Amino acid sequence: MQKYDKIYAKDESYFGHTSKQFTTLFSNLDFDTGTILDLGAGQGRDAIFLAKRGYNVIALDSSKVGLDQLQERVEADNLPIEIVHADALGYTPPQDLDAIIADRFFHEVPRTARVKLLQRMLGHLRVGGYMLIADDKSVLPNLRDTLKKEKFEVLRDKNGILFTYKP
Ligand SMILES: C[S@@+](CC[C@H](N)C(=O)[O-])C[C@H]1O[C@@H](n2cnc3c(N)ncnc32)[C@H](O)[C@@H]1O
Repeated sequence: MQKYDKIYAKDESYFGHTSKQFTTLFSNLDFDTGTILDLGAGQGRDAIFLAKRGYNVIALDSSKVGLDQLQERVEADNLPIEIVHADALGYTPPQDLDAIIADRFFHEVPRTARVKLLQRMLGHLRVGGYMLIADDKSVLPNLRDTLKKEKFEVLRDKNGILFTYKP
């Protein structure tokens, strides 16, 4: 059993509610339909919030336990969430995306693979799409540099939240 399978099996709401900063940012987007990829969605707290706002969400995670818990919520509330059990390092989105979120995900990815994964995912984001990374401050510098090199516009860069826009 993987680390997160054990964690989620013990607590069905391990990370609690979606953060206030996150809900605020995604309550003010300039599009209200579209597809958002949740990288490392876990038990789906963010995916559920976004789906309830009307977005289609692809919730990707390598923890089967977390995704099974999410599946129950999806079925109970008939939410527009596609659940994908996969390693993000080998995943290719089936379509262009309107936004990608990575809420405390990148620190879990091996250091040497982070930038390459981010670059690959950014290639699947439509022009005008958003990339949100919330993570440990120590993880952000390389990811921030990558986004700047790709000419992403930084909308917020504070308290471990990096919210950017693809021009
Ligand atoms: C700290 S948790 C955050 C979960 C969720 N984003 C949240 O904020 O509630 C990190 C998640 O990333 C997942 N994860 C780690 N490495 C992964 C990988 N290579 N591919 C897919 N998911 C991965 C873990 O299973 C875990 O659910």
